[in-house]
Amino acid sequence: MAIRPILHYPDKRLRELARPVTRFDAELAKLVDDMAETMYAAPGVGLAAPQIGVALRLFIIDVATRDDQPSELRTFINPELIDQVGEVRNEEGCLSFPGVHEEVRRAERVRVRAQDATGKSFELEAEGLLAIAIQHEHDHLDGRLMVDHLSLLRRRLVHRAMVKRAAADSASV
Ligand code: NI
Repeated sequence: MAIRPILHYPDKRLRELARPVTRFDAELAKLVDDMAETMYAAPGVGLAAPQIGVALRLFIIDVATRDDQPSELRTFINPELIDQVGEVRNEEGCLSFPGVHEEVRRAERVRVRAQDATGKSFELEAEGLLAIAIQHEHDHLDGRLMVDHLSLLRRRLVHRAMVKRAAADSASV
C-alpha cells in the first residue's frame, strides 16, 4: 500500500470525465488499497480516483468518523445513481479543497448501483452522511466539484483562495 498525492483545485485533471473500470484485476485491488490508505491518512470520509490523478469511475467511502465507530470501507466501481429523493443542506469539505467548507444542497436519500472490487454488482440505499458522500464522490467522476454547487459569489471566493494557496505552495517548494 502507498499514500498517493491528492490533487488540489484548480488542477485541471479534477475536471476530466473518468472512464469506466473494465478490468477487475490485481492492479485494481492495489489502486483501491492505495486509495484507502490515502483517504485514512488525510483523513477524509471519501476519495474518488480522479483526485489522485486516475481517471477511472471508482470511489471509496468510510463514514465512520469517530474512533469508537467501527470502520466500514465501501468501494463503488462504475456507480450509477438510480434514485435521488428529498433535499438536505450540509456543510461539505473535500480533500481537493483543503480548508474549504461550504454549504451544499444534495438529495436526502439516494439509491446507487455499483460494482465492488471483484466486479460483483450491488445496490445500496443510503441516507445521511453516506448519501451525501456518495453524491459528492460521484460528482468527481464527471469532473464536477463542490464549487459547482455554490453561488457565483461563493465560487469566486473559493476559487481565489485556492489559486492563492496553490501559488503559495509552489513558491515554498
Ligand atoms: Ni471531494
